[in-house]
Amino acid sequence: MIEFKSKEFHIKRIANCISEEIKLRQKFDQHLVLGLATGSTPIPLYDELVRLHTEENLSFRNVYTFNLDEYCGLEDNHPESYHTFMNVNLFDKVDIPRENIFIPSGQIEPLFERDYCEGYEQTIKDLGGIDIQILGIGRSGHIGFNEPGSSVDSITRKVKLHDITRRDAASDFGGFDNVPTHAITMGMKTILSANRIFFMAFGEAKQEITKRAFCGEITDDIPASHLQKHNKKTICIDFNIN
Ligand code: F6R
Repeated sequence: MIEFKSKEFHIKRIANCISEEIKLRQKFDQHLVLGLATGSTPIPLYDELVRLHTEENLSFRNVYTFNLDEYCGLEDNHPESYHTFMNVNLFDKVDIPRENIFIPSGQIEPLFERDYCEGYEQTIKDLGGIDIQILGIGRSGHIGFNEPGSSVDSITRKVKLHDITRRDAASDFGGFDNVPTHAITMGMKTILSANRIFFMAFGEAKQEITKRAFCGEITDDIPASHLQKHNKKTICIDFNIN
């Protein structure tokens, strides 16, 4: 389903859906597994989840989270790491148990990368899979850090970042050359295995690539285009903002 509504509408709707699902699971003493993205797109969603926690008593005690990706070579406490991003924007502000939080490490020795990534996949499976996946899109067409050429069968692994992706991150890192060249990302298969997906694209800069992803052919050259095949997704679009 592709929905052209305001960004505010999308954010409220996704947050309410997550909140209702968390509460439903709590009634039956079950947990909920969220797949989470970083970047500017989901920040208002995390703000709304924090508001639901502080103002409406939504508890995250039965929630597990798996982040899509992390830059290789960054310590967890690096200001631009996705660990820091998640702590600042969500985890430090809600009551999620620390042991329920999973974010790929950017600090794995090359020798152990493969085992580490397989372990990340296994942990997702052990918890029953991802119930709700939150996604943004990069101008390269990536979801997570699955850059053009990523196979639909790919799982969590180390990847080389596209130059467009590194250019878009350059200002955060104080220059293109400071942006890490590699990252660990969940794979396309990992993402497409999620039970439900909320994809968000806000602002004019995302219009062209989003159109190619959802109105063009399905191709590894635009990894997000594989979302066309997912049967429980909501495409939340608002291009009328900067
Ligand atoms: C980050 C991630 C990326 C971003 C994408 C858009 O965890 O998965 O795919 O969603 O790069 O980033 P923003 O939202 O900053 O435009």
